[in-house]
Amino acid sequence: MKGEFATTDEAAIRALAEARKQEPGALLPILHAIQDELGYVPEAAVPIVADVLNLSRAEVHGVVSFYHLFRTAPPGRHTLYLCRAEACQSMGARALEAYVRDKLNVDFHETTADGRFSLEPVYCLGNCACSPAVMIDETVHGRVTPERLDELLS
Ligand code: FES
Repeated sequence: MKGEFATTDEAAIRALAEARKQEPGALLPILHAIQDELGYVPEAAVPIVADVLNLSRAEVHGVVSFYHLFRTAPPGRHTLYLCRAEACQSMGARALEAYVRDKLNVDFHETTADGRFSLEPVYCLGNCACSPAVMIDETVHGRVTPERLDELLS
């Protein structure tokens, strides 16, 4: 459940950072906490976290941009995870990937213009016997063809 404060609520972001600043390697836990609360790590959080941890803004920004798991923009209402691991690739995941990129007009780690879907890669959903697999929000789907994907996204 996302929190109730606005992404511009600097005091709340600072409180999240202050609460974890003593943890070993506090930067990652702080960034995770912000993303858990807001759904992403807004640009406005970078100087606040840098200040709390006595780091440069460039250091914080570098970590945010290095790890793809951190979003820097609000996520879509739904997340489509497309498996890129071997079993799925051998069963057509690459073609599915090309299809979905074209259909949604996004690349991985991006969100559709209407804010409906974010596209994320995943490396095995534990559904290899039913490759290729995708997961939409919490639900895994197997043997996904472009036609089936159209149905799932509609
Ligand atoms: S390789 Fe795709 S679900 Fe395992």
